[in-house]
Amino acid sequence: MASFLWFLFLILFCRENSAQTQSCQLRWQNQTTISNTFPIILETIEDIEPPGKTLITLIGENVEKIASIQPDSIKELLYINATLVGTSIIINLTEHFVDYEKYEIRERIGIRINFQCTTGTRALDVRQPIKDTNNHDPEFENSPYVFQLPMPFPSNFSLDQLGKIIARDLDISQTYLNFSLDPNHEISGAFAISYLEADPNDPKRHFAKLMTTDALNLVNDTTFYIYATDSQEPIRTSNTTVTIRVDNKNSALRFDEPFYSANCSNLRPEEAHGFVLKFEEGDISLRGGIDNETEWSIKDTSKQYDNNFKISVSLNLEAVQISLVNPPGSFFNESSVVLILSVKKVGSAGSTVIQLTLPGRQSSEIPQMSPEQNKCSDSIPVIITLAVLLGIASAGLIASIVLWRRSRASGAAPEIITTESREEMREVERMDSDVSSNGVPRRSVAFNDTVEEIKVAKL
Ligand SMILES: *[C@@H]1O[C@H](CO)[C@@H](O)[C@H](O)[C@H]1NC(C)=O
Ligand SMILES: *[C@@H]1O[C@H](CO)[C@@H](O)[C@H](O)[C@H]1NC(C)=O
Ligand SMILES: *[C@@H]1O[C@H](CO)[C@@H](O)[C@H](O)[C@H]1NC(C)=O
Ligand SMILES: *[C@@H]1O[C@H](CO)[C@@H](O)[C@H](O)[C@H]1NC(C)=O
Ligand SMILES: *[C@@H]1O[C@H](CO)[C@@H](O)[C@H](O)[C@H]1NC(C)=O
Ligand SMILES: *[C@@H]1O[C@H](CO)[C@@H](O)[C@H](O)[C@H]1NC(C)=O
Ligand SMILES: *[C@@H]1O[C@H](CO)[C@@H](O)[C@H](O)[C@H]1NC(C)=O
Ligand SMILES: *[C@@H]1O[C@H](CO)[C@@H](O)[C@H](O)[C@H]1NC(C)=O
Ligand SMILES: *[C@@H]1O[C@H](CO)[C@@H](O)[C@H](O)[C@H]1NC(C)=O
Ligand SMILES: *[C@@H]1O[C@H](CO)[C@@H](O)[C@H](O)[C@H]1NC(C)=O
Repeated sequence: MASFLWFLFLILFCRENSAQTQSCQLRWQNQTTISNTFPIILETIEDIEPPGKTLITLIGENVEKIASIQPDSIKELLYINATLVGTSIIINLTEHFVDYEKYEIRERIGIRINFQCTTGTRALDVRQPIKDTNNHDPEFENSPYVFQLPMPFPSNFSLDQLGKIIARDLDISQTYLNFSLDPNHEISGAFAISYLEADPNDPKRHFAKLMTTDALNLVNDTTFYIYATDSQEPIRTSNTTVTIRVDNKNSALRFDEPFYSANCSNLRPEEAHGFVLKFEEGDISLRGGIDNETEWSIKDTSKQYDNNFKISVSLNLEAVQISLVNPPGSFFNESSVVLILSVKKVGSAGSTVIQLTLPGRQSSEIPQMSPEQNKCSDSIPVIITLAVLLGIASAGLIASIVLWRRSRASGAAPEIITTESREEMREVERMDSDVSSNGVPRRSVAFNDTVEEIKVAKL
């Protein structure tokens, strides 16, 4: 007990002693002395207070001058400052305070004021707590974002591996952002966006994760909005765009239509040689990284007429013509011939199915049906052949994606992955409704007079 009292006495004595040697006295306005061991904590202010505002005025005795002021901040800036006016020590917000949230992450400002006293020195630590208000919008960095992707592009791929999506929110208490997609854009169904993490080196920067949730098979570049929303009232939202640019050169080879049909029921043997097939779906066209080393082939599924077709490719390599080469007499006895047109390059292949309706003998043998029935009975065998043949022809990735998409397109699938069928539908609509086209498909590719003949590889 005695030793404890002695200890207490020692502490009191020492403190009294040091106070005397420093000789500076600091008081509140109500004359209460400010202890020299603890920092003073001022009343909380909001982060939107104007610079120049006086936070507190203290009374100093034996204070000769303010020797120095040390900020306790990341940026080494004085957001509050003290000036000695007579015996008053006025602590104000400085002009730097407007940038406080830009540079700092703590919800309080700290400074140490070093006084030069009549004899000796004294320090005073001041703490200014700050209440965060939501006064900053999230801001996307390096936006808008553009991703150049080959098609088809896989599902479950995180695009932010190719380029970071970052939104910065300066508000000091903001530790999370809600990223979202435009709910009204059809492509939303093929993507998911979510919060990933804050930048470990800068807690104000927030990374988003943008995933494909479906395989993409885009034909055209597509742009959609993404949003970053903060979590404090009043809620603030910012937007930017993400553009998916189709990297055609590195895309898989792909015919624009999985199926082409030509009605040659009126074809006469004398005009057959060199006859250029006209397809109801328009000219055969394809995209992907086509080049002069791409190999073409055409195969008759009945194997009888493999040598009776010639492939010609337009100069830009994107449109294809099929013409007849000396078809034998039996050819005209057929009612239908199904061909597979294939294209191949290193790492990629594509194929499309061509159905020719030929003169045949069926018109007298098959009972006449109403046009609608006719269409129906026509299209069912066609689709079945299509599915079987595409498998046989090892059409691979692309064809299967097309088919799969088609089957899905009947449900409420997102529009983006049904681009092929949409295009097809639009084509039909145009033919029916556009008077100026006179029923001729508009999407005809203008072949140059110089159509390049290419080597036909036999399967
Ligand atoms: C004087 O003011 C200070 C700060 O405002 C306060 O902490 C202290 O309790 C007051 N003292 C008296 C005696 O009112
Ligand atoms: C501190 O604020 C007061 C009140 O706004 C103002 O009169 C004074 O000039 C300011 N002092 C400094 C050093 O900015
Ligand atoms: C802080 O106040 C001192 C005077 O006490 C002045 O010399 C200095 O320029 C001020 N600094 C800022 C950043 O306002
Ligand atoms: C998506 O990829 C992650 C790894 O990146 C894997 O854990 C997950 O199972 C995949 N999900 C699907 C549906 O493939
Ligand atoms: C994120 O934003 C979306 C769309 O605005 C909203 O539906 C969702 O509830 C939000 N999530 C959170 C965690 O705030
Ligand atoms: C994107 O943000 C701008 C600026 O805040 C706003 O004017 C525009 O309406 C927003 N666009 C969308 C699609 O939300
Ligand atoms: C082919 O055209 C002829 C007349 O030109 C028509 O009678 C026949 O129905 C058509 N066949 C198909 C499958 O469209
Ligand atoms: C294909 O074109 C490239 C240049 O685009 C050329 O270097 C190459 O020799 C061509 N190959 C053939 C087989 O024509
Ligand atoms: C085509 O059919 C007709 C009538 O059935 C037949 O007389 C003719 O020999 C056939 N031609 C060939 C080349 O098979
Ligand atoms: C792609 O763009 C072309 C030209 O702008 C347009 O004609 C076509 O309909 C578009 N295709 C799709 C699937 O949007």
